[in-house]
Amino acid sequence: MTIRIRDIHKVYRIGTEKVHALRGVNLEIGRNEYVAIMGASGSGKSTLMNILGCLDQPTAGSYELNGRLTHRMSGSQLARVRNEEIGFVFQSFELLPRATALANVAMPLAYSRRFFWGAKRRARHALEKVGLGDRMHHKPNQLSGGQRQRVAIARALVNQPSIILADEPTGNLDSATSDEIIALFKALHDEGQTIIIVTHEEDIAGNARRIVRLRDGRIVSDHPTSEDPIHQDFLRRALEAAHRQAAAATPAAAGSAAP
Ligand SMILES: Nc1ncnc2c1ncn2[C@@H]1O[C@H](COP(=O)(O)OP(=O)(O)OP(=O)(O)O)[C@@H](O)[C@H]1O
Ligand SMILES: [Mg+2]
Repeated sequence: MTIRIRDIHKVYRIGTEKVHALRGVNLEIGRNEYVAIMGASGSGKSTLMNILGCLDQPTAGSYELNGRLTHRMSGSQLARVRNEEIGFVFQSFELLPRATALANVAMPLAYSRRFFWGAKRRARHALEKVGLGDRMHHKPNQLSGGQRQRVAIARALVNQPSIILADEPTGNLDSATSDEIIALFKALHDEGQTIIIVTHEEDIAGNARRIVRLRDGRIVSDHPTSEDPIHQDFLRRALEAAHRQAAAATPAAAGSAAP
């Protein structure tokens, strides 16, 4: 199992106030799974992603990543795990504004023991993989939103992580650009990449093979996409709407008399 979390709780404290963001989450995710995490705003999705990515520690419970318990790790061990095992993609891209696409993608390699040598070559290869072979020397403000997100995906891939974690990666993109990014995730999954994506959109979640739904810090459902009742209902409605549109566009079906 790539990820095994047991009874995870997360309590944020601000002064004397406590926010119980996760309330006993259990989850197992295997290699080459493609999982969508859904739930209302504030349900704990980003909190869970931050824990999965070792950016934050749970208040209680255990997290085993590739067979190793993360709460036993020191700060520097966690930093290494983050660098080598996890690739992050964020809604706001999080690129260095003054650095070229190539320098942004090469950045994680500077901290990597495995790939320090040959960093440029690897970064170039990652950019080619996301279709940006002709934009290596552009800075983020010289790229479109979709291209920026592709740079971020190349950066996430460059260390060959065991998991890609994407928190609303299409949240700042228009729908055509979102489709491109989602097609890229699909291709990566087909190549064997394990992917966990947070999204608010059913049609984006529909590309994943499994949908985990959170409510108030708890998992309320966890199904293969083809068996998820909410998603299947969404698909049925979308199909009905498409039929209605097609019928309205056909004069005979719409009941208008032919001349
Ligand atoms: N650093 C923090 N300090 C205090 N409370 C926090 C912190 N981060 C999140 N919270 C609270 O924890 C709860 C879960 O937040 P989280 O960001 O995980 O939600 P989310 O599901 O990602 O929401 P969204 O869809 O809006 O991104 C919320 O009530 C939020 O206010
Ligand atoms: Mg969030």
